[in-house]
Amino acid sequence: MRIFLDSANIDEVKKAYEMGAITGVTTNPSIISRENKKFDDVLGEILDVMGEETLVFAEVLALDAEGMIKEGLALAAKSPNIVVKIPALPEGLKAVKALSEKGIKVCVTVCFAATQAILAANAGASFVAPFVGRLDDIGENGLNLCADIREIFDAQGIDTKIVAASVRHPVHVTELARMGIDIATMPFKVINQMIANPNTDRAVAGFLKDWEKVPK
Ligand code: G3P
Repeated sequence: MRIFLDSANIDEVKKAYEMGAITGVTTNPSIISRENKKFDDVLGEILDVMGEETLVFAEVLALDAEGMIKEGLALAAKSPNIVVKIPALPEGLKAVKALSEKGIKVCVTVCFAATQAILAANAGASFVAPFVGRLDDIGENGLNLCADIREIFDAQGIDTKIVAASVRHPVHVTELARMGIDIATMPFKVINQMIANPNTDRAVAGFLKDWEKVPK
């Protein structure tokens, strides 16, 4: 399972990329707003840090298909690494069809139902992004939605990639990997939680202490 960073913070992007942890970055309007910088500047900085084989997801703001297509074309023109995020709305599907027919990579985002994922795939989306944590927030099970979409896509031979989003903690990550999800995108905090382990720290400290006993 590929790991993406769900952040537009350039320090986090650099750290996660240098760690070899990520092969992509996802953003949305809320994530961009936290950086207090112009959208084009933030996106440009992220594209500069990320290497050739990586993907950078950027979302449209328009709510009508025509506006989404216009924004999507402008975003895609910035780099071949850009994936245009379009919300799972009827107008969104129109835009997905139009953009994907032009060879632009599109991710249908804010997906909260398997039916939305099926329509996204039919419209030509390269990616679909179910929001795991936000379903958990309302007493549903976001992991179950991912499992449903995985099962349906496998049963139907659909090759649209599943990007699990709104990932909140390491257990989400292991469960997503277990069920064969293609990509999980998460905050930098979760990437750090995935590597942190007090036993590892204790073991390393013990090795260093014992090394002091070795005659020099
Ligand atoms: O990628 C979607 C993500 O940014 C939403 O996460 O934690 O705000 O639900 P969250």
